[in-house]
Amino acid sequence: MRRIVIVGSTGSIGTQALAVVEHSPDLEVVGLAAGSSWEPLVEQAARHGVTRIALADGDAAAQAAESWTAGDVLGGAEGLVELITGGDCDLVLNALVGSAGLGPTIATLGEGIDLALANKESLVVGGELVMALAAATGARIIPVDSEHSALHQLISSERPGAVDRIVLTASGGPFRGRTAAELRDVTREQALSHPTWEMGGKITIDSATLMNKGLELIEAHHLFGTGYDAIEVVVHPQSIIHAVVHLNDGASLAHMGYPDMRVPISYALHHPERVDVPLRALDLVELGALTFEAPDTDTFACLRLARDAARAGGTAPCVLNASNEIAVHAFLEGGLGFLDIARVIERALEELPARPVRHFSDLYEADAEARDLTRRLTEGVSA
Ligand SMILES: NC(=O)c1ccc[n+]([C@@H]2O[C@H](COP(=O)([O-])OP(=O)(O)OC[C@H]3O[C@@H](n4cnc5c(N)ncnc54)[C@H](OP(=O)(O)O)[C@@H]3O)[C@@H](O)[C@H]2O)c1
Repeated sequence: MRRIVIVGSTGSIGTQALAVVEHSPDLEVVGLAAGSSWEPLVEQAARHGVTRIALADGDAAAQAAESWTAGDVLGGAEGLVELITGGDCDLVLNALVGSAGLGPTIATLGEGIDLALANKESLVVGGELVMALAAATGARIIPVDSEHSALHQLISSERPGAVDRIVLTASGGPFRGRTAAELRDVTREQALSHPTWEMGGKITIDSATLMNKGLELIEAHHLFGTGYDAIEVVVHPQSIIHAVVHLNDGASLAHMGYPDMRVPISYALHHPERVDVPLRALDLVELGALTFEAPDTDTFACLRLARDAARAGGTAPCVLNASNEIAVHAFLEGGLGFLDIARVIERALEELPARPVRHFSDLYEADAEARDLTRRLTEGVSA
């Protein structure tokens, strides 16, 4: 029996992970955590017989502790860390959104506990230090992002040097093919209606701007040690091929499947075993045709900004990520236009040039600075 802690269990990945656990005789949940939604968290704990939960929001933790007496409630960011380090678990699923996920990632790897990682922001922000920590403690990182799960499956059996290039596919989001003029007045609701995946709000907007693919580019670089020039992004609107690897002997391997996050979640939670997931087999005849196109990085500038920040290295990806989180939040609140998201991130990257990263504290500092600056830039744009 594998004992798992799920941080971010009330979100899109978290709830799908609990559905996977319910069908698996090999998994037991021993801890659950969320940001502030204490009622759903308490319900999940009761349903899964969990006796330790944590809420990042201190007030929400206090309310949960008052109404739920069947176990321990930990509070604050340090409560999430304690949930991971103070229990006895074999695997942590990090399904938090945003750079708030970095603390739980460090705590997990620092303890030598294996990590199923959905929170791509952990690697975007702290890639070098996070990978070094995993190497030092021997903890494994199994990606949950569908493209990276695909790559993990495609690359694991290859010898070093056999992989020439990797390809991440992107659906292109709801605005694929539109011009900048057509994007000027798009609404929050339009941006939130993703054509192929059902996900949390932040990643859905990231998919519409193509920032999601930029974050995934950085994630892939750290997970697989692939140079940025050898990572290609291709738009594939059907979201059936999740990733491709081109090998040195001319063979190219693709990973295929209907877009359903239960597949990579189940893979990460059971790895190296594979278990049944109740899904219909891929019907190639019904699919008929799969199409591919180059991303439009003039219109969808976030992908270009991410590639530039990745190449600059140091604190630049951390600034990119923090600035994006603030800009997306402002867009969702109605305080920023869709195209302004890329504009404010570009300004933040210009005003906060890359600095070297020696300690995690360098990242927390750069993150705070970028958030402050982007808030000011956002207010300037919306004023
Ligand atoms: N959704 C997908 O299909 C998908 C696919 C690939 C990768 N991912 C990645 O997986 C991660 C989670 O995405 P999601 O779509 O599941 O997000 P989501 O639906 O927004 O859920 C986010 C979870 O994180 C918690 N949370 C938010 N802010 C927090 C904070 N400051 N401290 C502690 N907990 C916090 C939320 O708790 P509350 O409920 O209390 O707010 C919730 O449990 C992201 O990194 C995303 O890029 C998602």
